Amino acid sequence: MGVSVVSEGLVIQSHKGPYAVSFAGDLLRDPACLLQGEPHFLVDATVARLYAHPLERILAHPNLILIEAKEENKSLQSIIPVFEQLVGNKVRRNHVLVAIGGGIVQDITCFIASTLLRGLPWRFVPTTLLSQADSCIGSKSSINLGDAKNILGTFNPPQQIFVNPGFLDTLDSREIRSGVGEIIKVHAIDGAASFDRLAADFDRLFADRDLLGKYIRSALLIKQRFIEEDEFDQGIRNIFNYGHSFGHAIESATDYAVPHGIAVTMGMDMANHVATARGLLPASHFARMHSTLRMNYGDFSATPIPLASLLSALMKDKKNTSTRLGLILPVGESAAIQRVEVPPDGAFHEQCKSFLGELGA
Ligand SMILES: NC(=O)c1ccc[n+]([C@@H]2O[C@H](COP(=O)([O-])OP(=O)(O)OC[C@H]3O[C@@H](n4cnc5c(N)ncnc54)[C@H](O)[C@@H]3O)[C@@H](O)[C@H]2O)c1
Repeated sequence: MGVSVVSEGLVIQSHKGPYAVSFAGDLLRDPACLLQGEPHFLVDATVARLYAHPLERILAHPNLILIEAKEENKSLQSIIPVFEQLVGNKVRRNHVLVAIGGGIVQDITCFIASTLLRGLPWRFVPTTLLSQADSCIGSKSSINLGDAKNILGTFNPPQQIFVNPGFLDTLDSREIRSGVGEIIKVHAIDGAASFDRLAADFDRLFADRDLLGKYIRSALLIKQRFIEEDEFDQGIRNIFNYGHSFGHAIESATDYAVPHGIAVTMGMDMANHVATARGLLPASHFARMHSTLRMNYGDFSATPIPLASLLSALMKDKKNTSTRLGLILPVGESAAIQRVEVPPDGAFHEQCKSFLGELGA
């Protein structure tokens, strides 16, 4: 029997050589491939609880570290005990770190793999939609410092990624919507036709697992084009920050009450609003995307977002210059996503304020 297109793996090129994304549907029945070599497992504590039976050989392994996937645990201070445990377990350069979890466990493992013993190989089993459809490829690790999100980091791809959509069965709807937010972003970057196709399928994404699987793969394929061209985020890859300056600021201003991909969905709507208000984008483009974006973040539209906290978080964004905000906005008739420098002046404050005013309305 031929391999279906949805389960066909990808090979991503990186500065460390090619690495494979396998759609490993039988991983939960037989996780033996993860036990090869000298592994040290960093496992999301919730995933360990929910998948205790299929992962029992991994959870019984002496080199097991459980991580509570909370944003505050993704900080320099909080990961020191993880470094200490690995050193206590006598990790060596020929060993391999194996991350099983979502973006938080990924970021922690990737950062440790980049720095401990000046570099260790690592493998990744993404268990959230966001990590399966987006963050698993692209090499980045991101660690928070105080209230500055993702300000510490490295570029260090895993050796191999095993995507098993079976993990999505236990994700709650907010985490599914969070992943859908990043899938929307990637398709919006691909262009209006890609976004419109996704928008037409939007309702079915939540009920049809095969369809969602197709969009996981298509999101990875679109992202692959950009990260292979600009792995180190020096140029074209910057546009993947669409929705992220505002999204990170929303996460920070709400104390992470809004999950990452949902904050990014709101962030895209806000970027479109600001671009329209500044005369950079036809209002019809804002309207075209607004209803789909709003459907995805609707449950969080009443979450209070204090303007002052949002603006203060925006000022700390790592894409800023010393005097101007470096925003990623859609521009022109084709709504091309690009970097635009904006002074953080009264007009900009008013544009943010009017978006927040309409959000809760
Ligand atoms: N490095 C990158 O390229 C990159 C890209 C995007 C986002 N991120 C980071 O990823 C983080 C968000 O990651 P995320 O959205 O993948 O989720 P997460 O790691 O924050 O996990 C979200 C919640 O889902 C739980 N969970 C994980 N897998 C589960 C499963 N299969 N069933 C039930 N519950 C499960 C976790 O325990 C947690 O409670 C943010 O810190 C963000 O900054 C990193």
